[in-house]
Amino acid sequence: MSRSHSTTAIRQSFLDFFHAKGHEVVPSSPLVPANDPTLLFTNAGMVQFKEVFLGKEQRAYSRAASSQRCVRAGGKHNDLENVGYTARHHTFFEMLGNFSFGDYFKKDAIAYAWEYLTEVIGLPPERLWVTVFTEDEEAASIWLNDVGVDPARFSRIGAKDNFWSMGETGPCGPCTEIFYDHGPEVVGGPPGTPQEDGDRYIEIWNLVFMQYDRDASGTLHPLPKPSVDTGMGLERLAAILQGVHSNYEIDLFQNLIAAAAEVTGCRDRDDKSLRVIADHIRACAFLIVDGVFPANEGRGYVLRRIIRRAVRHGHKLGQRESFFHRLVAPLVREMGDAYPELVAQQSQVEQVLAQDEARFAETLDNGLKILDDAITSLQGTELAGDTVFKLYDTYGFPVDLTADIARERGLTLDMTGFEREMTAQRDRARAASQFAVSDTGALAVSGSS
Ligand code: GLY
Repeated sequence: MSRSHSTTAIRQSFLDFFHAKGHEVVPSSPLVPANDPTLLFTNAGMVQFKEVFLGKEQRAYSRAASSQRCVRAGGKHNDLENVGYTARHHTFFEMLGNFSFGDYFKKDAIAYAWEYLTEVIGLPPERLWVTVFTEDEEAASIWLNDVGVDPARFSRIGAKDNFWSMGETGPCGPCTEIFYDHGPEVVGGPPGTPQEDGDRYIEIWNLVFMQYDRDASGTLHPLPKPSVDTGMGLERLAAILQGVHSNYEIDLFQNLIAAAAEVTGCRDRDDKSLRVIADHIRACAFLIVDGVFPANEGRGYVLRRIIRRAVRHGHKLGQRESFFHRLVAPLVREMGDAYPELVAQQSQVEQVLAQDEARFAETLDNGLKILDDAITSLQGTELAGDTVFKLYDTYGFPVDLTADIARERGLTLDMTGFEREMTAQRDRARAASQFAVSDTGALAVSGSS
């Protein structure tokens, strides 16, 4: 791999390109969105600009570019269940993006993207495929007539894939997407075909034409000024430029996987568990940097779930000692230059991870034994709800962790049974707290007399 195609260099080349086009280079915002109860985590580059798109906040610039840290592990965009099973899903990833706040619109957004891909980083146009929203004649005409993309490598797609929304409410609009074609030797069909889920055509860049604000009833209100929001996965782009198929083969991940192999004692670099651990250390470390702590609810519970999945994968590799927090230093080596906040909080992150690891270590072995016994005596392929509940309630196994283990063995979970147990527990807790209230009340009465 040439130095110019390292993940670090690609991130920089993107920001430099848009800086030269008059964009303000803006640092990544934290993973916990500021004052936005509609969103669990920052899941796209546009999140820090939401109010600017809505016309409620003014900035000193009308064009911006960023490399935004994102987590998609809960809420509308959730990839947690896919990590370890595919070549491209992550809980944490970096999104490169350029933004126009009422400045340029479709024509320039498309021209910039094409110039960056084909001239700056040199992707052959015949390897690219473009889609537009079915009803967006304007974007179609720009691509076909101005840019001159091959109509044979162009398609129109419906709202499911080509109308982007940040969440259930908020800024949204039609989009146009650029795909990279990994070639006929890879299985898969062009976007919009029944074979689109194959690995041949991979979406690399989504250009959203922000035009509406969706309210809670689903009604679309036009934004004050048509704007642009784009998102390109840095890891996917790095994979293409480094000539590898899976994101986990890029330099950044290979270094993290090597570190994960070392701290777990695993000799097989291709082991899926190493990929999961390498993915999860990024999400966990940056969530802690951004003020999330392991907890039993909300954002903290998402963090705890990710930590415990990683710890279980280490256990699966035979590591019985605490290891996960030891990956923070290698992560700092990979990403510290781009994210100084990670460097500044390295020891805090290590401590928080070490504590939650230690806590889970107390119950992990016993929980796994309960699970193994349940699987051994299982008739059929569905793990009983009361077992899932016991693991959750007594052994600290998040349900998705149990589901992950079950999936590895071709099993599913009886979620109805689990929910029944949860409801019964809530009822017991409510009854107990009512008792506590009347008890306290009685004491209060006697105390006041
Ligand atoms: N905001 C554009 C995207 O996430 O794809």
